[in-house]
Amino acid sequence: MAGERPGPEVFPKVSYEWFASAASRDSQVPVGFVPLERVFGTSVRFSPGQKIHDVAAGTGRSLQYILTKVPPEIARTLKLVASEPSTENHEVLRRRAAFNVEIIEKDAVEAIAEVKNCDLIFFINAIHLLGDGDKVAAIRAAYDSLVPGGLFVVSSTFIKDGVPEEEKEFFDKWPFNTFKALGEFGENPREVIRRVRENKLIFWSSEQYQQAFEEAGFGVEMEMATMPCTLESIEGICHYSVWNGHTIPGVEAERAVDISLRGLHTTWEGMKRDKDYIVNRNTMVIVGRKPQLPAAA
Ligand SMILES: C[S@@+](CC[C@H](N)C(=O)[O-])C[C@H]1O[C@@H](n2cnc3c(N)ncnc32)[C@H](O)[C@@H]1O
Repeated sequence: MAGERPGPEVFPKVSYEWFASAASRDSQVPVGFVPLERVFGTSVRFSPGQKIHDVAAGTGRSLQYILTKVPPEIARTLKLVASEPSTENHEVLRRRAAFNVEIIEKDAVEAIAEVKNCDLIFFINAIHLLGDGDKVAAIRAAYDSLVPGGLFVVSSTFIKDGVPEEEKEFFDKWPFNTFKALGEFGENPREVIRRVRENKLIFWSSEQYQQAFEEAGFGVEMEMATMPCTLESIEGICHYSVWNGHTIPGVEAERAVDISLRGLHTTWEGMKRDKDYIVNRNTMVIVGRKPQLPAAA
């Protein structure tokens, strides 16, 4: 039916093995790339001379991944900008950037507003880290900074509707057991919970994203996919400092990995799951298209 959004579906092109290696701690590839496969070559097309901004570029993995989708003769002509507020990522980001990339050290909202006349703006697996007001501001700024017909491509694995019914127990118990593990590692759970509350990290549903995109003026294409997560891929998440920084903020990095893993394994064993069990998780890719200017009369 026209206007009806597709419900979550199993992403057909990705094998469990591919997903596990993509999200393993060796590759350090964020899980958010997997469903992006769906929009390249369909909604997202590259042409010579385009200006592309990768927001919250991290250590350059997303930019590197995006460039694997661009034919080399086009890649050479692109004007690339990567913005990332955390300077500790810049050295690796600069090394990874295959050719001339302008790197901007700014928060998402400011960076998006500053980099004008873009054909494509990517915001991969990071928008959920912004507060409510900043999410809206980033979406509006993207609309203003795109040329007519330009695209704002956002993916997030951290959405409110990310947990299918049958996995609610797992995703409730994992944080619970992680907080319990804090005490075992000499941390003060009350203090960590206070910091979590202070961060006010609120996940939106895919519907909230769609609404905010539409209110900003975008035409919206939404992809929802169910990602089959292996234990190994979830262990990979426990190794991300950004993940631990938000789930158990203020805990020293190496100890935070151990605590997250302890919480995960306690949950896994407590639920009597064997090591081959697959956890399903819904993920979102949203493509906002700024309308073309109406043809002159
Ligand atoms: C999970 S990483 C994703 C990095 C990259 N896009 C990728 O897919 O590999 C999230 C990134 O968001 C950045 N970040 C956190 N808060 C941000 C903010 N307010 N504005 C812009 N970036 C932010 C972090 O520094 C981190 O590099």
